[in-house]
Order: sequence, then C-alpha cells, then structure tokens
Amino acid sequence: MNQLGKFITLEGVDGAGKTSHIEFIKEYLTNLKLDFIMTREPGGTELGERLREILLHDEMTPKTETILMFAARNEHIEKVIRPGLTSGAIVISDRFTDASYAYQSGGKGVEDEEIDVLKDLVQKNLQPDLTFLFDLPVEVSIKRLKKTRKLDKFEKEEKDFHENVRKKYLMIAKNNPKRFSVLNSEKSIDEIQSQIKIKLDELLK
Ligand code: TMP
Repeated sequence: MNQLGKFITLEGVDGAGKTSHIEFIKEYLTNLKLDFIMTREPGGTELGERLREILLHDEMTPKTETILMFAARNEHIEKVIRPGLTSGAIVISDRFTDASYAYQSGGKGVEDEEIDVLKDLVQKNLQPDLTFLFDLPVEVSIKRLKKTRKLDKFEKEEKDFHENVRKKYLMIAKNNPKRFSVLNSEKSIDEIQSQIKIKLDELLK
C-alpha cells in the first residue's frame, strides 16, 4: 500500500472519556484545514455497523466474538482505512486491533497467538502511526459508566474483566512506547487536550 496519510487510533477502558476528546480532535484538525476521516470499530462501514449491533448485544463464545471483530475490521480496512490513507487523509479510528488484544485476550482469555493470526490476515503491513490510550482506574470508570445510558454487553462486565482489559492495554502501551501516548483521564480536560495537541503536531508536522 502506498500510504500517504496518517493512521491514528483511540483506545481505552469503557468509561475513560474517549468520546468527549473525539470532538476536540475533529475541531483541531478542521481548524488546521486537514483532510481527515473519523471512524470507529466495531463499525465504520454499513456491514460493520450491523456486526457492531450483534457484537455489542448478543452472547457468543469469545473466539466467535474475536473472529467477528476481525470480519468487521477487514471490511473497515478494505473499504475505509486503506482508501483513506492512500488518498492522503488522516484516518482516526475510535478503537482498532489493540482493543481485540485488550478485550478478547485480556478480558476473555482468547490466546494472543490466535489473535496474531487474524491480525496478520486482515492487517498485513497496516499499523497505526499513533495510538492514544485513555487510561483510568477501573473504580472510577465503573462509577462513570453507572451514570450513563443503557450499558452494552462489555460495559456490563464485572470489575475483574475491566481490570484485565486495562492491564492488557497498559502492557501493550509499554511494549510499544513509540506508537502510544498514554493519557491519564483523571487529569483536567485542558491538560489532556494539550497533550493530544503536542502529539498530533509532532505526527503531522
Ligand atoms: P465503544 O463503546 O468504545 O464504541 O466500543 C465498543 C465496545 O466494543 C467496547 O466495549 C470495546 C469492544 N471491542 C472489543 O471487545 N474488541 C474489539 O476489537 C473492538 C474494536 C471493540
């Protein structure tokens, strides 16, 4: 693939406040007059959004869930991410493959090696250039979740599940320090946004 654009992903435990910073990123890139695509996983395509409904609400085995996540991801990569990057756009995905390692492996015990196989199959040489990890102690994220709308299947999981997801995310970040920017979601919105700005400027200069 001839990648002209940049690929940015956003990750974090449920309730870590990722959504509120998406608006900030959009506004920032719009002000810079940069061409960008904001998308999400599971989802991002017509089929992917239908799979999202199933993934977020239907019970299935962890392995089925993993395969379905990657089926949606394949569609997303082929129809949205690669064409976007080839055209020179900045593609920002609200979650990507790190979420499969964090949730399906860390949370549900699917083997990393099985996820590696699916990753190689659908991603090939595609890798995010920058990943923001919105991190928050699980006690705080659960409190925040309780105040929100109707919870999906993942948000309803026990505390241990969320602890394991968080641990896995932090481990992936530690092993990939160049790609990851870990944001402490307990800090003020201004502090988090200035850290986001620094990283975006570094990547896009
Ligand atoms: P969202 O609420 O941030 O849109 O994410 C939807 C849920 O899907 C979230 O709880 C994490 C979960 N998820 C996985 O379990 N594996 C994945 O590969 C992805 C992309 C999301």
